[in-house]
Amino acid sequence: MTTATAIIDISTLVTNDPSLGEGPLGLIRDAAVVMEDDRIAWIGDSSKAPATDNQVDAGGRALLPGFVDSHSHLVFAGDRTEEFNARMSGRPYSAGGIRTTVAATRAASDQDLDANVAHYVREARRQGTTTLEIKSGYGLTSQDEARSLEVASAYTDEVTYLGAHVVPPEFADDAAAYVDLVTGPMLDLCAPRARWIDVFCERGAFDGDQARTILTAGARRGLTPRVHANQLTQGPGVQLAVELGAASADHCTHLSDADVDALAQGDTVATLLPGAEFSTRSPYPDARRLLDAGVTVALSPDCNPGSSFTSSMSFCVALAVREMRMTPDEAVWAATAGGARALRRTDVGRVAVGLRADLVLLDAPSHVHLAYRPGVPLVAAAWHGGTLV
Ligand code: NIG
Ligand code: FE
Repeated sequence: MTTATAIIDISTLVTNDPSLGEGPLGLIRDAAVVMEDDRIAWIGDSSKAPATDNQVDAGGRALLPGFVDSHSHLVFAGDRTEEFNARMSGRPYSAGGIRTTVAATRAASDQDLDANVAHYVREARRQGTTTLEIKSGYGLTSQDEARSLEVASAYTDEVTYLGAHVVPPEFADDAAAYVDLVTGPMLDLCAPRARWIDVFCERGAFDGDQARTILTAGARRGLTPRVHANQLTQGPGVQLAVELGAASADHCTHLSDADVDALAQGDTVATLLPGAEFSTRSPYPDARRLLDAGVTVALSPDCNPGSSFTSSMSFCVALAVREMRMTPDEAVWAATAGGARALRRTDVGRVAVGLRADLVLLDAPSHVHLAYRPGVPLVAAAWHGGTLV
């Protein structure tokens, strides 16, 4: 038996489908949405909503697609408060802090690791995230990477193998041997447990040649590449991502004109992670330059215990508007439809008949309030596959 629920009296419905409503976000005013089981069954004028068993009165508030977070590092243990404190007293961020979390993650029990992920997934869901990618990358042994992916798989299908996060201390003198491990026995164990492969392509992590070797090996095993690219310095990451047909190049903070051109000509989404710049006191990526060049932009909080310990997409929308010169419409699109593009998903990130009923009701009359009212918890309710979170 199907259950149908209508959400009526929506002041502004963001569909992200320009053919359904006004402007690039396809806005429908005074709208209703009907959910049947886990799908959207009907959208239109609130006054024409069909009769259903259950009804939710939105009370003149805004409804939008659930946030699609395409970049998180939730499988970790430990805490880096001290590192953050030191940074706020002037010490710069470096990739080296990752090793602190690696030690804590290796030492954690399966139960503790799982409880930690459960905690942050709940936190993200409460804030309106309905699709969430989760990476490994704090295990860095075959067993610890495989168990990280196992833990992540209990919460999402969007699981990413990031064995190439940094070279772990036991391989400090032989990075080539670590690349052999990541592309050999570790990949054998991890490939069946993941959808994506990622590399931190950066000075102090993996160079362009190493990244190419790792991503190509993953692709041969059916994993689609995504790349941590150009976060701390200009480098080969972005152009490598485009060349290999990666779904996404993430960070994109330090870009040359050639990087922007490559992104504009390729299919790779530029995923911007302004929580990282906020929490490392670094200059923000130039979103305007990317958008004006025609690049597809996504936003994500990059939740991790080092560079960006926030799971809040709303916060990133506000940062993107205030600090990165995105319009509120562009930022909301990037947090929903943009994230879906970065995960190559066509069933989420928009509101249309037949798509997943992943929806967020705001305590505000318009999606613009996400930027207009920074820091305010505006998510009043969220439905995940038609079920109230
Ligand atoms: O996306 N850049 C690499 N990875 C994370 C940082 C991880 C950490 O500092 O623990 C990021 O910023
Ligand atoms: Fe990251």
